[in-house]
Amino acid sequence: MRNVYVLSADMTKFGKSPLSARELALEASKKAILEAGISPSDIQAAFVANAFSIAEKQGHLGPILMSGLGVPDVPASTIESACASGASAIREAWINIGAGIYDCMLVVGVEKVSQLDTITATTYFSFGSDFVFEGACGASFPGLYGAIARSHMTKYGTTEEQLANVAVKNHENALSNPNAHLHKKITVDDVMKSPVVASPLKLFDACPFSDGAAAAVLCSEDFLRTKGRKFSEQVMIKGSGRAGGTGALFQREDLTSLNAAVLAGREAFKMAAVLQKDIDFAEVHDCFTVAELIAEEDLGFAARGEAAKLTEEGQTRIGGELPINPSGGLKAKGHPVGATGVGQVVEVYEQLHGKAAGRQVRDARIALTHNVGATGGSCGVHIFQLT
Ligand SMILES: CC(C)(COP(=O)(O)OP(=O)(O)OC[C@H]1O[C@@H](n2cnc3c(N)ncnc32)[C@H](O)[C@@H]1OP(=O)(O)O)[C@@H](O)C(=O)NCCC(=O)NCCS
Repeated sequence: MRNVYVLSADMTKFGKSPLSARELALEASKKAILEAGISPSDIQAAFVANAFSIAEKQGHLGPILMSGLGVPDVPASTIESACASGASAIREAWINIGAGIYDCMLVVGVEKVSQLDTITATTYFSFGSDFVFEGACGASFPGLYGAIARSHMTKYGTTEEQLANVAVKNHENALSNPNAHLHKKITVDDVMKSPVVASPLKLFDACPFSDGAAAAVLCSEDFLRTKGRKFSEQVMIKGSGRAGGTGALFQREDLTSLNAAVLAGREAFKMAAVLQKDIDFAEVHDCFTVAELIAEEDLGFAARGEAAKLTEEGQTRIGGELPINPSGGLKAKGHPVGATGVGQVVEVYEQLHGKAAGRQVRDARIALTHNVGATGGSCGVHIFQLT
């Protein structure tokens, strides 16, 4: 495999947007291309991470995006892996460039769902579960993660207040992120008093329905050389891991861990040849507060049942031992499904280049992203290092 670099990454604001998916994708792509200092004609192929564009009666977003960029001849296809579509698209681009097929690729993640009412959006999202055994039986994602949270509480004694700590931290981080969906400081008490969505999970334990897009330009060393760019101070993909898990929860022996995340994490750490202690910060898939704790345990940052203590002790805050979700995470930065995994890479790019302003993690050089599809049917983990 050749070395693969994140030449640039940028995004739209996440939140409720009047723009369509195609417009959001175009906006993020133009920003990333501008940041990379290249022209659209330098892009040899693209992947669009998206799950629900059909809700706008528009599939096949790739050619539409490429036409919008003025390069309709460039091949572009959609990658769908539910909420892990973004990491899957990054992974596929990494493979293509690493294998020497292309030297410069655009990866765009996009979602537009705010035109849907709550019930319709919840139903669409449930198509990403094992619909026959879950969605069609009335199990929404809040319901499924509610079962996961209950299981974690039963097995390890995790409390609702400990889950709330995650939301409080991530809402606080998002205050310094101009692109975040929710800019609202909350307390544990606010979380505890917020309406129950799927017991034990409450409104502030959940990520919101967000629109938005994020884009990254990935390239090879040859491309950097051709463009006369330096090799130092570039963001390199040091490790990539991807794995699958059962689509449905009833097929699992244990709900307190996502096997896909354990396997993807192991693969990424092994490839990057770094240890957990080497990671300066991580963006993990906190679609519900309990998911952040499970991510920390699955990735080996905490022993089983011990992750809640990291948040309690302030270790996962910006300035702590291991900042988790300095962007605000899915919880507060927002979760435009297809865009989320690419949005995590935007945070890595900004942090490693020292451009994260009020939420900057000091001296960050190695970062990890963890992006989960549904309740763990798929997972992608990437480790990045500033050269
Ligand atoms: C919890 C949930 C049902 C709330 O949706 P909703 O009832 O349609 O909420 P609305 O859009 O009507 O918003 C009502 C208010 O709550 C706020 N809000 C909505 N979702 C929120 C969230 N998750 N966290 C904090 N605030 C939220 C809105 O900003 C709004 O506040 P305002 O009145 O001050 O403007 C929805 O956010 C949800 O299902 N989230 C999970 C999404 C999901 O499953 N994703 C896939 C993960 S695998």
